[in-house]
Parts: sequence; C-alpha cells; structure tokens
Amino acid sequence: MEDFLISLLILFLSFISLTLFVLFYKHKSLFSYPNTPPGAIGLPIIGESLEFLSTGWKGEPEKFIFDRLNKYKSDIFKTSIVGVPAAIFCGPVCNKFLFSNENKLVTSWWPDSVNKIFPASTEINSKESAIRLKKLLPRFLKPEALQRYIGVMDELAQRHFASSWENREHVLVFPLAKSFTFSLACRLFLSLEDRIHVERLSEPFQNIAAGIISMPIDLPGTPFNRAIKASNFVRKELLSIVRQRKSDLAEGKASPTQDILSHMLLTCDEIGQYMNESAIADNILGLLIGGHDTASAACTFIVKYLAELPQIYDRVYREQMEIAKAKAKAKGELLKWEDIQKMKYSWNVACEVLRLASPLQGAFREAINDFVFNGFNIPKGWKLYWSSNSTHKNHAYFPEPYKFDPSRFEGNGPAPYTFVPFGGGPRMCPGKEYAKLEILVFMHNLVKRFKWTKLLEKEKIIVDPLPIPEKGLPVRLFPHKTLSL
Ligand code: HEM
Repeated sequence: MEDFLISLLILFLSFISLTLFVLFYKHKSLFSYPNTPPGAIGLPIIGESLEFLSTGWKGEPEKFIFDRLNKYKSDIFKTSIVGVPAAIFCGPVCNKFLFSNENKLVTSWWPDSVNKIFPASTEINSKESAIRLKKLLPRFLKPEALQRYIGVMDELAQRHFASSWENREHVLVFPLAKSFTFSLACRLFLSLEDRIHVERLSEPFQNIAAGIISMPIDLPGTPFNRAIKASNFVRKELLSIVRQRKSDLAEGKASPTQDILSHMLLTCDEIGQYMNESAIADNILGLLIGGHDTASAACTFIVKYLAELPQIYDRVYREQMEIAKAKAKAKGELLKWEDIQKMKYSWNVACEVLRLASPLQGAFREAINDFVFNGFNIPKGWKLYWSSNSTHKNHAYFPEPYKFDPSRFEGNGPAPYTFVPFGGGPRMCPGKEYAKLEILVFMHNLVKRFKWTKLLEKEKIIVDPLPIPEKGLPVRLFPHKTLSL
C-alpha cells in the first residue's frame, strides 16, 4: 500500500513538473521574437495580470503604465496581462497609429471570456455581412438621429428625479445613476417603460458585468457561468421584443420613428440588406452593455467632483439655471437641441471628469500581420492595448494632470489623440453623442434641483475595471428651495 502511495506521489509530482515545464517553455516561446518592445513577461498564464489589476483595485490604474514607461524609457512596452503577449501602446503617436490602422495592421480584439459571454449571432450568414451591418450602428446614434429624443430624455429624467431623489435627505448616487441610464436606454432603444419589465431586464446585467471581470471557468455556480446564462436570458428577451415589434410595424401598431429598434428594423445597408432579428438583438445587447455602466460611472463622478469643487458647481448651476428659467417661462417646455448647445461649460466639466475618471481605461487590438513600429517588431497575433491614462494623466499633455480644470477644453481643446475617453478611428465608441446628451440632461436635472455634500469625505475609488466609489457615493441633498429660505 505504502509503495503504491509513493508511486502515486511520484507520478503526481512528475505531472506537475512536466506541466510547469511545458507552460514555462510555451510562455517563453510566445515572447521569443527578436527586437520586440522592452518589458517583462511575468509568470506563465497570469503574466503581470496581478500587478495590472491590483493598481486598479488601489484606485491608481495609471501606476502600472507610468512605472513601466519610466523603467523602459519607451512609449511601447511588452507585458502579459490576458494570458498572451501584449504590447501596451502609450501616448498620442501610438494612439493615432492604432486608431488609424484598423483592419490594415490591427483589428479589434476581446479576451475569449468576453466572446463566450457574447457569442456573435449565428444567423448572420457571413463575417463580411456582419461587419457591413455593424457599420449601420453609428447611423442610429448620430446627433441628427438623436435630436428628436432629447425631450424624451428630459421627461424621463424629470420622472427619475421626482421618484428617486426628491424628498430624500440622503441618496446613494451610483445605483441611482445606473437606474437612470438603464431606464433611458430601455425607453430610447426599445420603447420599454413598464418598470417591472425594465427591472427584469436590468437584473441579469449585474451578473454579466461581474462575469466579464471574473476567471473564465465555466462551471455551475461560477460568476463566469452566471454571466453566460444571464447573457443568454437577455438575448432571448430581446429577440422576443424584436419579433413583436416587427409584427407591430407590419400591422401599423408601431411607429417607424419611435425608437432605435424601429430604426434598425427599417434601415438597410448599401446593398439593400436588412439586419435580421438575431443581429438586431445582438446589436441592442451590445448597446445596452456598452452604455450601461460607462455613462452611469461618468454621471457618478460628476456628482463627486461637483460636491468637492463648489466654485465649479456654481458656474454649472448658473449656466443650467439660465436654461431652466427660460423653460419655466415657456410653461415647462422640455429640453431641446438648442438648449444642449448652450451647455458649453457643463460639457467642459463633464469632459474633465471623463479625463480624470475615464470609464474605460483602454481597449485591445490584435496585430493581423507582422509589422514594425517605432523600430520594434510586433509579431502577428500579439495583442495591443491603448490606454487613456497614458495621455490623460501625463503632464506632457495635461499640465498639472491631477488638477480639475475644465478650461483645458476651451478654444481648440487638448491636442489631437491626447483626450481619448471614447477611443478613436473607426472603432470609436458609437454611443459618444448619445452619452453626451444623457450626461447633460442628467446634469441639468440634478443641478437645478439640488446642491449636495459627500457623506464619506475620503471614499476610496476602485477601478475594477470601471472606476467606482467603493461605497456607491452616498450624498446629503440640499434642495434649492430649502437653500433659499
Ligand atoms: C461616458 C460614456 C461612454 C464611454 C466613456 C465609452 C467609451 C467607449 C470606448 C473607449 C470604447 C472602445 C473603443 C475601442 O475599442 O477602441 C467603446 C466602445 C463601444 N461603446 Fe461606448 N462609451 C460610453 C457610452 C456608450 C453608450 C451610451 C453606448 C450605447 C448607446 C456605447 C456603445 C458602445 C459600443 C456598442 C461599443 C463597441 C464598438 C465596437 O466594437 O466597434 N457606449 N465605448
């Protein structure tokens, strides 16, 4: 018996040694190209992921980038943060290079875990047609198309503030901002207003968000497994909404302009092809995911900075009250496109928030060919990452980078490719203009009602992967009527 156990132990140890040897060998060989950017490859599989993630958990994600930029004295360095070789591209020249070489030298890339949670529609007949149809997306979200929805945004914001903020002494900002942006998306994308239905759709998004940043282990009960199930649930729900709308449109029960869903069903691409139901459901899911936590994080940080900077709050208040007073004279008319154009200072404030607390820290690309950049070889298949912090928090592009200064956005604003909260080039966020409108409508409705103070003076910020105040930003509200007493 004893001999048997010893043999088993030897077998086990041999297996572990062999696995480690293979992993180390494979890991090293992945990086063994001549003249690649300087950097460290870290441990097999996890690479430098722990260092990368832990700087975010401590609220200073830029530290990972700046430590290495200083160490290697190069705007590009190599690392391994997603189990594969990656080169981090920093600064405006690198941003310009990645943004303008989409589908020439690089292509968009997501970790496998993300592709498993959001598998592309199988009913789309070819990759080319999927790409062609995806190009239609910006059409539904460009300013001309969105103008007609500003009144709806304002109406919904008024209802949101009346039901969730007014007559309360304290509120928790982050969950409220999320509920606002999600209800708005359900209304504008799908004409969905029933609170119970909206909540049923919103719940799985918590699981989806948690799964995207979890270990990709697909076993019952793991966050990853819950995220896959949640995503399947939402896709089925969306598909049934799309089918219902198709028949309502055919019977004249729905309007062709009532929301983005009607728009998608009735718009064809340049060769006359319409999006099929699954492709539309996938695109709406993409919009709900892309716009869910990003815009609510931005709104939350606006509340945080305005609480900390009373002189900035006062200027935003004055700008918004001019508009609010004109609206009151016009017997409560809803916000219009022209009003949004007047919110220049408020938008500069929002941009400064997006610079200092970028909802997305960056995004990946994949090299589709071997190429040479800045004298370094980048092998085909390597993952490349652009990082907003490499410029946003760099004093070379934003002097005194940690100072909150909305005047940076006056005149010509920041130099090209330095302010990139929405990315750039063909993959630039298609929801940029939509996000701008919802953020400004949120600011208008918030500032005209309240002043506020933070309840936790030194609340920690965690970046995981979006920045959020650790306790959700509790604030004490002071309605303006009370202030003027
Ligand atoms: C403040 C809010 C937002 C920020 C900071 C933001 C930022 C970004 C960034 C950095 C990207 C990646 C670009 C890249 O790959 O280089 C992106 C992609 C995307 N965003 Fe946004 N976004 C915001 C709001 C929204 C909203 C409201 C929507 C939907 C209406 C949206 C939909 C999307 C989609 C669908 C993509 C993927 C595009 C693609 O793969 O080509 N985003 N966003």
